[in-house]
Amino acid sequence: MKAVLCPAFGQDLVVADFPAPAMTDAGVRIAIHAAGVNFADSLITGGKYQEKMDPPFVPGMELSGVVTEVAAGVTTCKPGDRVMATVTGGAFAEEAVCDQTDVYVLPDTLDFVTAAGFPVAYGTSHLGLIKAGLKAGETLVVHGAAGGVGLTAVEVGKALGATVIGTAGGPDKVKVALEHGADFGIDYKSEDIRDRVKELTGGKGADVIYDPVGGTVFEASLRCIAPDGRILVIGFASGTVPQIPANILLVKNVTVIGYYWGAYRKINPAQVRQSMQEALDWWAAGKLSPHVSKVMRLDQAAEAIALLKGRAATGKIVLTTGR
Ligand SMILES: NC(=O)c1ccc[n+]([C@@H]2O[C@H](COP(=O)([O-])OP(=O)(O)OC[C@H]3O[C@@H](n4cnc5c(N)ncnc54)[C@H](OP(=O)(O)O)[C@@H]3O)[C@@H](O)[C@H]2O)c1
Repeated sequence: MKAVLCPAFGQDLVVADFPAPAMTDAGVRIAIHAAGVNFADSLITGGKYQEKMDPPFVPGMELSGVVTEVAAGVTTCKPGDRVMATVTGGAFAEEAVCDQTDVYVLPDTLDFVTAAGFPVAYGTSHLGLIKAGLKAGETLVVHGAAGGVGLTAVEVGKALGATVIGTAGGPDKVKVALEHGADFGIDYKSEDIRDRVKELTGGKGADVIYDPVGGTVFEASLRCIAPDGRILVIGFASGTVPQIPANILLVKNVTVIGYYWGAYRKINPAQVRQSMQEALDWWAAGKLSPHVSKVMRLDQAAEAIALLKGRAATGKIVLTTGR
């Protein structure tokens, strides 16, 4: 099969012929139609991700396609099903073998391109905001609100009945967050996050903050979280891992929740499946509007990752295999 190969950490990705992956216990072989691109792909191929893969390897963590073969005992899908799936590497290829726990049969009207960018972002945001206990009527701040996970957190927050404030770098990105349901936008290139959140919440601050950015944006969160508020640590797209002064947590009764959905798939797979199924149901009910801003070919994977690193994309970028 054709696949995108990371020959060594930090080296240019190449497209090469690669052996099709072997079948595994509980495995589902999928003929891939499309694969979602994530910021984490830049970290994984650079050797900077929390989970390391040994080069040479095929990157890519989410995909959509058609099931061609299942191992004995697989119950979540059957050959011929249209599915989306997550995988620990291997999605930037024409074929993958995924664990049946990570495979979801698609609603008939969910197309392959949209589905390929669905599981990581909506999976992370749906379960994350449930774990943070976001309730109807509360105020949610989403940082990086026009990005892959950020935009889905805006939509999930609205579906849960929250007032959503989206922050992003520049007016065009703020506009995307507003178009996807954010009640208010903050351009953190020109506006002070703390001052604006305080102003928009009548001085109280945000009940929940969803942070895939880190760095100075996280520091601003500590200054505009409401008493008894919850901050979800999602990632560090800024490149800076924030250090947390515990005295602020104590004085303000703030909870900081470290949350890594990829690992949660192994900690509580049943809860992850239930959450993803609810996100798919919400999509079917018209509550979610996935935003794929760019569709590229599989052999353009390096270019796609560079667009994310350069903050040049909104929503998701999806690669197609030409099937
Ligand atoms: N915890 C989990 O389970 C989980 C799951 C998925 C993703 N993540 C993490 O969440 C983060 C975002 O992932 P994603 O796939 O949504 O990425 P993405 O689509 O590239 O979005 C990242 C956003 O971060 C903002 N940003 C701020 N400073 C940046 C910088 N120096 N470089 C790049 N972007 C910057 C950008 O928005 P502005 O230009 O508007 O600032 C961008 O829209 C990553 O750290 C990823 O590893 C975590």
